[in-house]
Amino acid sequence: MQPFGVDINLQTGEMLEPDRIVVRRASDMQGYYADADALEQLIRRGDPIHYEVFEKPVPETPGNLMYCISKLQPGLIGDEFYMTKGHYHRVRHTAELYLCLRGQGLMLMKTEEGECVAEAMARGRLVYVPPSWAHRSVNTGTEPLVSFCAYPAEAGHNYGDIEEQGFPKRVLRVQGEPQLV
Ligand code: PA5
Ligand code: NI
Repeated sequence: MQPFGVDINLQTGEMLEPDRIVVRRASDMQGYYADADALEQLIRRGDPIHYEVFEKPVPETPGNLMYCISKLQPGLIGDEFYMTKGHYHRVRHTAELYLCLRGQGLMLMKTEEGECVAEAMARGRLVYVPPSWAHRSVNTGTEPLVSFCAYPAEAGHNYGDIEEQGFPKRVLRVQGEPQLV
């Protein structure tokens, strides 16, 4: 493998010339939000993009570092702020760095033992997701929440557990303000 460089616009968080873009639409989020009817309405109104992950993938082998730009749109499903699906890593004991480049939000994290922690995300703030913590980003602002992420390339994603169990807390808008409920 040869060294290479990647251009990222630090103002907008845009990765120039990504090799792979993962696109998740509202219809990919069925079962994740408390207000299923509100999500169905959004799907019927054109099924807009919910979030995107921009990547230049490297081999998923120990020693490599996978990295990406995660871009989550702003909005509400009922009273619940837009969020990513969230996942554990398939190789559980692997950590992840999230450096927020744009927007406002929370990184919601939980352990298998039921511990749940939220860290603020804002431009210039780095959130460290320790090994074995599931993680989901939540956009509580009015512009896209954009982060640069990096993690061991062999980590992989396990979505099934979160799809079944969710997180112990949701981020809702209560009297105009984000609140963990
Ligand atoms: O690896 C990560 O944690 C991120 O790149 C996420 O994959 C990204 O934010 C999208 O979230 P999810 O994978 O939970 O759909
Ligand atoms: Ni991850």
